[in-house]
Amino acid sequence: MLEVFFITASSLILLIQAQDGISTPPMGWSTWNKYGCHINEQLIKDAADLIVSQGYHNAGYTYLNMDDCWQSNERTSDGHIIIDRENFPNGIRPISDYVHSKGLKFGIYSSAGRQTCAGRMASSGYELQDAQTYANMGVDYLKYDNCNYDEGVSAKTRYEIMAKAINTTGRQIFISVCNWGTENTWEWAYQYGHSFRTHDDIYNDWKSIVEILNVHATVVNNSGPGQWADPDMLEIGNDRLTVDESKTHFSIWSAMKSPLILGNSLSDMPSELYNFVTNKNVIAVNQDPLGLPAKRILHVAHDKDIWVGELVNQTMVVVIINYMDQHQTFNIDTHYCGYIGSDIRAFDLWENATIPMKDQR
Ligand code: GLA
Repeated sequence: MLEVFFITASSLILLIQAQDGISTPPMGWSTWNKYGCHINEQLIKDAADLIVSQGYHNAGYTYLNMDDCWQSNERTSDGHIIIDRENFPNGIRPISDYVHSKGLKFGIYSSAGRQTCAGRMASSGYELQDAQTYANMGVDYLKYDNCNYDEGVSAKTRYEIMAKAINTTGRQIFISVCNWGTENTWEWAYQYGHSFRTHDDIYNDWKSIVEILNVHATVVNNSGPGQWADPDMLEIGNDRLTVDESKTHFSIWSAMKSPLILGNSLSDMPSELYNFVTNKNVIAVNQDPLGLPAKRILHVAHDKDIWVGELVNQTMVVVIINYMDQHQTFNIDTHYCGYIGSDIRAFDLWENATIPMKDQR
């Protein structure tokens, strides 16, 4: 059994800032984790409807991101990317317009290589042309992947070319550098994007989440407003994580200030899991105006983690992960967690309740 809870040192302010994804981590939904390459116009439009009608948008989820496979694997003779006409017979612009008409933002995907990871046409060599195509489509978010690049060209160079091309369009587009933590991503990606992946792809199981956390913990220091370290999209609701694992996944992603990009079916999310991913208290931690990631201050493999982060108004968040299959008792010394104030109050975000403190100093 896994357990997690949050405490804060003074009452939590439920203030969610303007969610442009730069001053606070982006929140949205992506096609990839659930649907992979099986995407089409109707799926995207239905997703736009559901993000709004199911209350995800009200909870803060703003981006609708179409991942790999909207492209064919060809270009026209003058270099324009050819869309997968079977699944997107009307092109992309009407879909983007539809997404915008719902008050959402529209995301798209390509790769800093010749082909995407699924073998569709990608942007290497056509960056200026593609960036303009995305701007013309009304794209607000570009996830830029790392597959099928020419050997010998550094990631830094490849991502820089696209960042400059996007800049040339004059359109404000959030750039998600998806190069899986290779070539010390965290040292340079902030110059060319607003978020950067720190690890290979998430898989839909707890083992993958633990592996990602172990890497992410070592580089999360480099995360902050406009340069969010990205441990990958959420797997909550995709049937493999237990309820406790799902809750833990959401707790720690929120506290690390990770982009919160859902990857579940929006039409049949179990209500318990839906309540997790729309929990106002926990989302407020993710969207805290300071934008400082929680850092791991204690790690005992297969046993426990403690992560601590600073929030606005002399508030801090503490995430405790119990990796054991049994209950554990944790005595948390708030001074040990770095809090030096007096008059400390603790609050359990999931229970929405004050935690009695022992031995207040
Ligand atoms: C890579 C990325 C994934 C997804 C797929 C699409 O593996 O890391 O998140 O975008 O490509 O093919």
